[in-house]
Order: sequence, then C-alpha cells, then structure tokens
Amino acid sequence: MGISFYEKEGLFQLDTKTTTYLIGIVDGAYVGHVYYGKRLSGCQGACALLRIGEPPFVPSKNEREKASFADTFPFEYSVWGVGDYREHSLLVRTEQGHRVCEPVYVSHRILEGKPGLPGLPATFAGKGGKAETLEIICKDSWIGLKIILRYSVFEDADAVIRSVQLINEGSEKLYVERALSACLEIEGAGFEMLTLTGSWARERTVTRCPLTYGRLSVSSVRGCSSHQEHPFLAVTTPGTTQEQGEVYAMHFVYSGNFLGLCEKSQFDSVRMVMGIHPEGFEWVLEPEASFQTPEVVCIYSDRGLGKMSRILHDLYRNHLIRSPYLHRKRPVLINNWEATYFDFDADKLVEIAREAKKAGIEMLVMDDGWFGRRSRDDSSLGDWYVNEEKLPGGLPALVERIKEEGLSFGIWFEPEMVSPDSELYRAHPDWIIRIPERTPTQSRAQYVLDLSRGEVVDYVYQCVADILYSADISYVKWDMNRQQTDLGSAALSGERQGELGHRYILGVYELQERLVREFPELLLENCASGGGRFDPGMLYYSPQIWCSDDTDAVERLAIQEGTAMLYPLSCIGAHVSACPNHITGRVTPFGTRGLAALAGTFGYELDITKLSAEEKEQIREQVGMYYRYQELIREGDYYRIASWRENQKYDCWEIVTKDGSEVLATYVQVLAGANQKSRRIRLKGLDAEAVYMLAEEIFSDSQESEEQSFGGQEEQPKRTGKKYSGGVLMYGGISVEPVKGDYAGRLLHFIRS
Ligand code: GLA
Repeated sequence: MGISFYEKEGLFQLDTKTTTYLIGIVDGAYVGHVYYGKRLSGCQGACALLRIGEPPFVPSKNEREKASFADTFPFEYSVWGVGDYREHSLLVRTEQGHRVCEPVYVSHRILEGKPGLPGLPATFAGKGGKAETLEIICKDSWIGLKIILRYSVFEDADAVIRSVQLINEGSEKLYVERALSACLEIEGAGFEMLTLTGSWARERTVTRCPLTYGRLSVSSVRGCSSHQEHPFLAVTTPGTTQEQGEVYAMHFVYSGNFLGLCEKSQFDSVRMVMGIHPEGFEWVLEPEASFQTPEVVCIYSDRGLGKMSRILHDLYRNHLIRSPYLHRKRPVLINNWEATYFDFDADKLVEIAREAKKAGIEMLVMDDGWFGRRSRDDSSLGDWYVNEEKLPGGLPALVERIKEEGLSFGIWFEPEMVSPDSELYRAHPDWIIRIPERTPTQSRAQYVLDLSRGEVVDYVYQCVADILYSADISYVKWDMNRQQTDLGSAALSGERQGELGHRYILGVYELQERLVREFPELLLENCASGGGRFDPGMLYYSPQIWCSDDTDAVERLAIQEGTAMLYPLSCIGAHVSACPNHITGRVTPFGTRGLAALAGTFGYELDITKLSAEEKEQIREQVGMYYRYQELIREGDYYRIASWRENQKYDCWEIVTKDGSEVLATYVQVLAGANQKSRRIRLKGLDAEAVYMLAEEIFSDSQESEEQSFGGQEEQPKRTGKKYSGGVLMYGGISVEPVKGDYAGRLLHFIRS
C-alpha cells in the first residue's frame, strides 16, 4: 500500500494490495486518469496512456485545438463548458450567471492516515490500521474556486476512496449546481453494466445490461437511497462471472439522492461518475465557505464479482462500521410486527416473550404502535410518549416484565416523520418539508420532518433519548417509511432551498451520531419500509439494517443475493416469519426459512404463541444452529455458488473462515423437477490440499413430502464424520440429490482435519 509521486513524469501512483491507480498531470495543469487495474511494480511508460502525443491534441503546443483535447482527455474530475461534452462532475454558477469552471492543478499533499468528513459517514483507518491520502489541489482562478480531489488507500483493503472538497476563495458567492464525488475513465470493449434494482419488498435484484454508446444511469431523487435503485454501479468485461472477468465498481457512502452514470463515448472510452444527484440540488458557497461531497468507494477486481464482494465486505467490516456489535454475537430477537401488527398490549407481548424464552430467543422487540394514540398507520407519529392504555405503567413496567421473563428489550421508532393527526403536527405545522401555501402530499398518511432545521433535530433527538433513558432498552429499530415530495423548508432562504435534500440527510446523520455517542452500547438497526435506505452511509451508524419487508424465504434468496454482493452478511437484517407469508402467501418449510435467515442477523417475526410444539422445538434447534455458526457467518469470506434468480432452480452460497479451515454451505432446491439426477455443487475458497470432515449436515424438507429428504434420509436431520479432500470438494463438488417438493434446504459444515 502506498502513494508515490514521480515528479519528472508528473505521475501519482496509488497502490492497494492488488491494484494500482495512476493519475497524470499534463502540462502542469490538467489532471488525467492514466490507469486503474492490476497492481504494477513500476509505471515506466504509463504516461503514454494519456495519448498526449497524438496530434494535434497537445494543449501547451497547440492552444487552437484545446477543444478537441478536452473532448477526449480522461479527466479525473470532469467539468462542463470548456469542451468536454461527456458527463460532467462539477457545475458552478457565478453571481453573473455564468457556469464555466476549469480546475487546473496547483499543488498536492500526501498525508498519513485517512481524514474523516465533518458531518458525513466516512471510511477510517481504524486502530493501528495504516492509510495514506493524496490531496490534489486544483483551482479555477477566474471564479476563485479551489477544488481538492481526495484519494485514500488502506494497507489491508483493495479500494480507492474518493471525495471532493470545494472552497470559495473568491469575493463573490458561487452556486454549486453539481458536485459529484468521483469520475473514472476506463477503456475496453463489450462492457456490461451491473446495478441493483427493485421496488418495495423486492430490493436489490442484480440487473445487467450491455453498455452501448450514450448514457446509462441509476439514481434516486426520493430523498433516500431507495428501494428502486442502489447507489452502486459496476462496469464489467464481457461474460464476467463470480470468479472471472474484470469489474470496476463505485459504491456511494451516502443515504440521500444520488446519481451513478456510465457513458460510452465516441472513442469507446467509458466514463463512470457518482455523487449527489444534481436534480433539485444547489448549494450556495459564500466566500471562504467550503462544501464537502460524500465519499465514493472505487473497486477494481481482476477476478470477477466474488472478489469485489469480498473486498467490499472486508472494507465495510474493517473501515466503516463502528458499532461495538460488529464482532459480537447479536441477540436472537423476536419482533412482534408480523405477529400482531398494531393490535397488541403488554400482556400479549409478555406472552410472546415467555414462549420465546423457552425456545432460546434472547430479545423482544416491540414494533410500531406503542405510542400516542396509534392503532393504525394514520396517527401519532411524532408523539413519542407511551400509550398507557396498551401498556399500563409505561415502558418501565413493560420492560421489567419482559426482563422477568428473561429477555432483553428493543423498541421501534420512526423519528423522522410526523402524522397530520398528531399533537406535534398541530403544534408545529411548519416543521414539515412542504412549500408554504401548497397542500403537501401525504404518503402512508405522514409527512417528513424538516431535519435541515437544528431545532427540529434537537427536538427529535430529545424524544428518542428520553424514551431510551426511561427504561432498560438495548436495541432500537429506526424506521423511515416515506419518500420526499414538496421540497421546501420554512427555515431556508429562497436561494438556499436547493440545499434542503442534502441538509436533511446531514440532519439524519447528526441524529444518529448523537444517539450512538450517547448510548454506545445500544444496538441500532436501521430500516426504511424494509430496505429503502440500505446503504454504506447508514452502516456507519448501525451495524445492521433490515433488509426487506418481504420475509418470504424464497424471495429473500434473490434479495439477499443482491444485498450480499456488496454487504457482509452480518449487516443483513433477516428473520424467520410465519407461513403463509404475509406478503406472498407462499408456504415454505420452517427449516428453509431458518437457513435463509441464518445468512443474516437471524431472528423471528411471528406469533410464537400460535406455533405448534413441533415448530417451537424447531426454533430451539435453529437458535442452537445460529449460536454454532454466528461467528463464522459474521467474520468469514462469502462466496456465491449458484443463483436461483439466474438458473430458476436452486440457490447456493458459502461462508469460509479466512484461513480456509471451516466452511458452511447452504443449498436451497427452490423448485423440484421430474426425473432429476443429483446435482454437483463445487465449493470455493477451500484448501485443495487439505482433508475436510463433514461435521454437520442439516436438512430442511418440503412440508408436503416429509418422508422424502435429501439422500433418502428419514427423520435424521444430521450426520457427521465423512471425509472429503479439499480438491474433491472444489473441483469435483458434492453431490446433492433431488428431493420431492419445492423449497427444500440443506446446510453443510466442513472442518479441515
Ligand atoms: C416498516 C418496517 C416494518 C414495520 C413497519 C411498521 O414497513 O419495514 O418492519 O416496522 O414499518 O409500521
């Protein structure tokens, strides 16, 4: 790892474990992208990749042709208005209404460590971790704008972290209409674009398409990172698989509006950009003021999507998530949402807790409906005091009763919102995001509080903190259930209304920062109607995020496949829920639901008091299974082996310890088929020379065919002791026999002997 500067060539070399990123300065002025790819031991000759010698595009020798130079030069940070007609990263307007800005290299610094970003989530070096940061300082002296391009690398991570800071050194105001965080130029043929797309209850589905001439983008202007598109973009070489092919990826450490865009231009180069969405955005930069963009994580993988996933997982575990729970066993919780929805009282919760305790569950989480007069979703958000009709004696009494049953206690909040039917709204109608005089748009019968205002942030924080101080609460599910409309703030001047979207997100970050500082032992789980704000920004505050409101085990296979492509399994909120599933109506075996939830934080979302004795016993076994494997799942390397979304038949993934000594593989035969032979599943990431013992095997059968289990096993869920060569497991595979009935699952645990 390291950053070097070769003065003679005007070249910066940024090395990570297996990659090199090269930046060149042309004519002492233009900052160009030279190379991003496999690690280089030297960079002699690399400057030729900027093609500066190709006549007549030599700015210092031929000023007449500057426009054609700008039209093709691989700028590290693209601007509008001086001949680069591809996607721009920066657009700044002056008081006179002009929009041209041209950053020219002034100087640079190479710093030890990785600076934090004030008010924003950001990757960090961590205790004893080594990082270096390059700052390339550019300026447009016509308008007095200083632009700092920041690049950080870590000793143990294969990522380049980028962000940009703008400083107004002039004497007049500047209006920043666009300030993206990163721009990357790549070259190659036949590229594809890979994104994660979806909707409510079907978040983060892997989506691929060919990259043709023109622009393709993902974005959100919903005020959050969204269910629909994800702040992630990858460009892959043709036919890239889990193990093969090159991947260039960008992931945005931000939770609000974003734009990620790829453009294939006239000379076949591809430009990728990512940052805050410019639509509706404008930031007023007073003289001496500065604006910091959120950061983008850039990844290059020479070995397919799997390597990219493992790089991101390690990066987020080692350099982004701060929670003390990161390396701790998370409590197995039971949440009452799908069990009761709004229809519960203290006795019902205690009853659930009592049965849960018997099954080994450790925490009860009380979901929506405990406050104000809320008995449906149309009132009381904002009135964060306990409904004593449901919970006599308030939270202290309830929490005591739950603790007497032997469980710890967690609670749901939706702090960013207010119901029109609430005391808070009646007292402060101007505290919502709205345009004065216009009727604001409701969604789920609620409005969004204007968190760009300090007094609203203070009020909301105090409400949450008061509740947390009132009883022994170990966990908070922080929900956010609507997207933004009617963007207007009563507190911002006319020329600053374009700042609202970003200021709102800064308000969310401030709230969560205060919360985790004040309650360092609190386990915080973010949520947004399921996974509507599942992004690296939120991970900086909470070590886990509720993945989706869709708890159907089969649907979850695809949702969790897309999510796990970027995030470690320890972040993915996943629970076993009742069947028929509350959203799809599908019935899946209890065991398979357990295996799907095991690839996440694990917990329950059902009325345990209504389960059969057999199902309660299954919970006991599943909790035991979680205890045995939680550390491996939380800390290990993730490998995707097969995708049900792609093959329409079966799904398979695997977790391996970093030293290859243990592996846990999960296989789900989603659909049964007639006249099938056994299927060979090749494991990955093992030690081919070693011998592995099959230490445990768990079967989960279709409920319709209880007598038919894998390999003809009857009532015998586990067997142990068989030996396999690592090479056989990886290159030959294990044989998985077909089962009658859909949705059967199998868990295999191998230990190196
Ligand atoms: C959202 C969450 C659910 C639940 C409900 C409560 O939809 O994703 O898990 O908490 O809100 O209203």
